[in-house]
Amino acid sequence: MSPLEFREAPVLDQREVAPNIFLLRVGGEFHALPGQFFLLRAWGLHPPLSRPMSVFDLSPGSLSFAYAVRGEGTRLLSRLRPGDIVQVLGPLGKGWSRAEGKVALVGGGMGLAPLLFTAKVFGRPLHIFLGFKGEPFLVEEFLPFGEVYVATEKPGYPGAFLGLVTEAFEPRGYAAVYACGPRPMLEALYEKCRAAGVPLHVSLEERLACGIGACFGCTIFTKRGPVRLCREGPVFRADEVFDGARSFRGT
Ligand SMILES: Cc1cc2nc3c(=O)[nH]c(=O)nc-3n(C[C@H](O)[C@H](O)[C@H](O)COP(=O)(O)OP(=O)(O)OC[C@H]3O[C@@H](n4cnc5c(N)ncnc54)[C@H](O)[C@@H]3O)c2cc1C
Ligand code: FES
Repeated sequence: MSPLEFREAPVLDQREVAPNIFLLRVGGEFHALPGQFFLLRAWGLHPPLSRPMSVFDLSPGSLSFAYAVRGEGTRLLSRLRPGDIVQVLGPLGKGWSRAEGKVALVGGGMGLAPLLFTAKVFGRPLHIFLGFKGEPFLVEEFLPFGEVYVATEKPGYPGAFLGLVTEAFEPRGYAAVYACGPRPMLEALYEKCRAAGVPLHVSLEERLACGIGACFGCTIFTKRGPVRLCREGPVFRADEVFDGARSFRGT
C-alpha cells in the first residue's frame, strides 16, 4: 500500500483517561519512528481536513493515539467505540533520533503524546519530565521506560513539583533534550538549554492543512529557510526554529 493512502483500522478500545483526554487504540500492523504522526479521520466529507496525531504507542498489532478534545474533529474521534473504523494515513513527517548518553524528554500537558513511543524506542538512560496545569494523566504509562518526574501547577499531588515543568527541569548534564508542548513552554526550555549548551529538539504540534506536504499551508521560516512543518518537521532542532527565525503565521 502507498504510504500516501488512507487505510482502515478498527478501533480496539478507547478510554477517557482524564476529563477530555482520550487514549485511542486501533488494530493493524504499523511502523513509525518516534516523533512521526498520522492523519486520522472518522467522518465523511465534513470536516474536510483530517486531524494530525502523534504516535503515542506502537506495538505488534496496534497503534495508539493520546489526544485532547478541542473541536469538531477530536469530538468525533472521542465518540468512536470498539469495532468502529478509523481512516489512518502515515507515518508522516520526520522522526527524531537519539543522542548517545543520558537524554531527557520534557512534555507539557498534551505535549506528552509523542514522548511515550520516543521513550520506548530511545531506552535508558532516560529522564522524563511531565508538566500539567492540573491533575496529571497518563504518567503510569511512562514509568517502565525511564526515571519520571512530574510537575503540576495545582497543589495536592504528593511527590509532584508544584509549578511549571520548565522550573523543575535543569538541562545541565544531558546529552540532548527532546520536548513537546505549548510554544511558550518550548521557548522557556530553549533559553535554559541554550544557556547550558545542551541541544534541544522540539516537536511543533501546530495547525496543519493537507498534512502531506502538498499545500505549503504549514510553512514556517527557519534558519535554513522556509520549511513545511508536516514534511520537514514536525520535529526540529530548537535553534533552527527559535533563533531569529520567524513564521508565516506569526507564532
Ligand atoms: C504533527 C502534529 C501532531 C499532533 N499530535 C497530537 C496528539 O498526539 N494529541 C493531541 O491531542 N493533539 C495533537 N495535535 C494537535 C491536534 O491535531 C489538534 O488538536 C486537532 O487537529 C484539533 O482538531 P479539532 O477538529 O478537534 O479542533 P478544531 O475545530 O480544528 O479547533 C478547535 C480549537 O482548537 C485549536 N487548535 C486546533 N489545532 C490546534 C493545535 N494543533 N494546537 C493548539 N490548538 C489547536 C483551534 O485554534 C480552535 O480554537 C497534533 C498536531 C500536529 C500538527
Ligand atoms: S499542511 Fe499542507 S504542506 Fe504541510
